[in-house]
Amino acid sequence: MYKIATIPGDGIGPEVTQEAMKVFGAVAQKMGFNYETVEYDFGGDRYLKTGEVLPDSALDELREMDAIYLGAIGHPDVKPGILEKGILLKIRFDLDLYINLRPVKLYPGVWTPIKDKGPEEIDFVIVRENTEGLYAGIGGFFKRGTPDEVAIQEMINTRKGVERCIRYAFEFTRKRDREKKLTLCDKANVLTYAHDLWRRVFEEVGEEYPDIEKDCAFVDATTMWMIKNPEWFDVIVTCNMFGDIITDLGAMIQGGMGVAASGNLNPESVAMFEPIHGSAPKYTGKNQINPIAAISATGMMLDHLGEAEAAQLVDGAISDLLESGKIKDLAAGKMGYTTSEVGDMVAEAVVA
Ligand code: IPM
Ligand code: MN
Repeated sequence: MYKIATIPGDGIGPEVTQEAMKVFGAVAQKMGFNYETVEYDFGGDRYLKTGEVLPDSALDELREMDAIYLGAIGHPDVKPGILEKGILLKIRFDLDLYINLRPVKLYPGVWTPIKDKGPEEIDFVIVRENTEGLYAGIGGFFKRGTPDEVAIQEMINTRKGVERCIRYAFEFTRKRDREKKLTLCDKANVLTYAHDLWRRVFEEVGEEYPDIEKDCAFVDATTMWMIKNPEWFDVIVTCNMFGDIITDLGAMIQGGMGVAASGNLNPESVAMFEPIHGSAPKYTGKNQINPIAAISATGMMLDHLGEAEAAQLVDGAISDLLESGKIKDLAAGKMGYTTSEVGDMVAEAVVA
């Protein structure tokens, strides 16, 4: 019996969560496993009504779950940062979900802006450090609001944090068993302290993985190669900030925010899964948004739960649907189907 927390969140979050859980339900029935869900109403509306973002009691409950499913966070009437920091980042940090796993996979039949590249070339995974770096929230102002103002935001890299992330990436590369190549994406030529640490740890830990080809690429060059030669990548490991940036680029080359999913993991405990896209407020309640990314996050959640076959079913159903060309355009409002119809199609394919 799996215990799944859902946080549908803001904007279109609830709509896509519904489709994601619809598919989860279908696959559970097909595979014969049981689960219960606990829904949490965290997000902009609750914050505006009560001033509460994420109570500590909820964090304790989330810790006891097998997995957490997050729809989307972000509300037009709430100042940027409050919900992101108060919900998403708080869960990542407090639950120590130190890996952000983001597959960049172009499904057959999906348009990519990169000419002459297809599913064979665009199939890699970004392992983003998820609890440190520039996201640590260390810093402050000096003489704020005056002409002499100083703003400091520190980049925290702990030996432990860097090592566990790099080690995970090596293990993941081995398990993925595609090209067995791990690329460290950094800026070691300029961040000569922070990313010197990353390089040293990469080399040291790498010695334990003689079967894995190691490569290093500066982040600026990485963005170039992701466009020019995406086939060079198998697994990329990188720090929090660079991971944030290059995964949006990755999402674009795999067909856009309509398909990109991610997992926030702590391999030893709970994990949270989410589509990469935001809450897209202008599409709220219109039943027009593409739920594929959200459903794909369900697939990742199944994998995490140890339901590998179920995860494959979901991934296969998504792949077949996209390859069929039925969905004309992945953008919201242009699919030729409603959000719930797309959810139905995947759910039906999964049980077929
Ligand atoms: C992401 C998002 C978040 C991040 C925001 C919403 C805080 O962009 O998951 O990539 O920067 O990590
Ligand atoms: Mn981001």
